[in-house]
Amino acid sequence: MSDNTLESALGRFALHEASLLVFLTDKGGKILQANPYAESLCGRTLTGCSLADIVLDFTGSFSLEAALAESGSRMWSIATASGLPETFYFHLLEHGSQVVLVGEYNYRDSSLLETRLVALNQEVSNTNRELQKKTAELGRLNEMKNRLIGMAAHDLRNPIGAIHHLSADLSQDTDTSRSDEEVEILSLIHDSSGFMLSLIDDLLSVATLESHEMQLNRKPTDLNRLVAKSMKLNRPSADRKSVTLELRNNATFAEVELDRMKIQQVLNNLISNAVKFSHHDTTVIVTVAADNTNAVVSVKDQGPGIPHADLGELFKPFARTSVQPTDGEKSTGLGLFIVKQIVEAHGGTILVETEVGTGTTFRFLLPLSQSSQAREAKS
Ligand SMILES: Nc1ncnc2c1ncn2[C@@H]1O[C@H](COP(=O)(O)OP(=O)(O)OP(=O)(O)O)[C@@H](O)[C@H]1O
Ligand SMILES: [Mg+2]
Repeated sequence: MSDNTLESALGRFALHEASLLVFLTDKGGKILQANPYAESLCGRTLTGCSLADIVLDFTGSFSLEAALAESGSRMWSIATASGLPETFYFHLLEHGSQVVLVGEYNYRDSSLLETRLVALNQEVSNTNRELQKKTAELGRLNEMKNRLIGMAAHDLRNPIGAIHHLSADLSQDTDTSRSDEEVEILSLIHDSSGFMLSLIDDLLSVATLESHEMQLNRKPTDLNRLVAKSMKLNRPSADRKSVTLELRNNATFAEVELDRMKIQQVLNNLISNAVKFSHHDTTVIVTVAADNTNAVVSVKDQGPGIPHADLGELFKPFARTSVQPTDGEKSTGLGLFIVKQIVEAHGGTILVETEVGTGTTFRFLLPLSQSSQAREAKS
């Protein structure tokens, strides 16, 4: 009698209190009963479900029939409510037309797993430390690279500037003894040194941008005049391709606080890009406008447009997309990187809208001062 009492007490303990999974199923694997521990682990009522829905057998496809044909315990994982599978050792007992499945943790395996996890964790920490060291080293090398670029560009600027200006002086010299070929060579020297100068300026900008926070020299500026000046600068290259440059002025604000040299650089980059990537006999429209809080300048061309897949690369240094200049112009891929840094240093934003076959619009927004906002709101 005492045996009986002990067995039923152990049975009750196993079913209701122990960390054991207990399922009663039919031979097809349909769950007829599951103990509370199993249901709380799976986070749902299991009666009526199929074992195959909750058992993940990583060694093959789950089959209760095949498992019954084998002896010994087997390792199955259970899909728990937390989303993480948990592994148990299952013992299968046939009970008439039904099957009792008891799943238990194997503590020896668990502690082995724990030891391995601790070792793995240690390895991850070591790798992390190595990574931090390498990142610091890379930062130092990058800083060194920027200083070298800066120094080389700076030292090249003067001699190339001299070649540029001297070749201009010689071209203007009305010495008639110069042959046509010599005149052509002089003009080639002048153009190439001009290109090298602008490249050096871009490289200097990039080197400075990467190593320092940008210093702005903001002054209240007539943005319309600044835009008109940039358009004038770009007119000769636009004329060479019969590209019409059109200015639309919809803004009534008087002045915007900005760094003139730097915003001039932004405008030159965007307008020269629009011309560079425009087909012959098309129009580039530059619009100056305002929304409630920003001055908005947009540069719209009727060029080839930029494929969607290339857009992610656009504002990175040395980014060149699959779109090529339409008349063999030079392209280094520094302009838009510099543009973005300058606009963002002003607290502004740069946006691009583009459609292949139709054209591209680059738009940048610069925050207006309170007084300019009030003026703009009144108009
Ligand atoms: N208006 C545009 N239409 C089509 N593609 C453009 C346009 N503007 C820029 N791109 C694409 O983005 C790339 C990067 O432009 P970015 O101004 O940075 O460099 P770049 O004009 O090639 O050279 P850089 O400005 O340094 O002389 C260009 O090479 C071109 O592929
Ligand atoms: Mg450019």
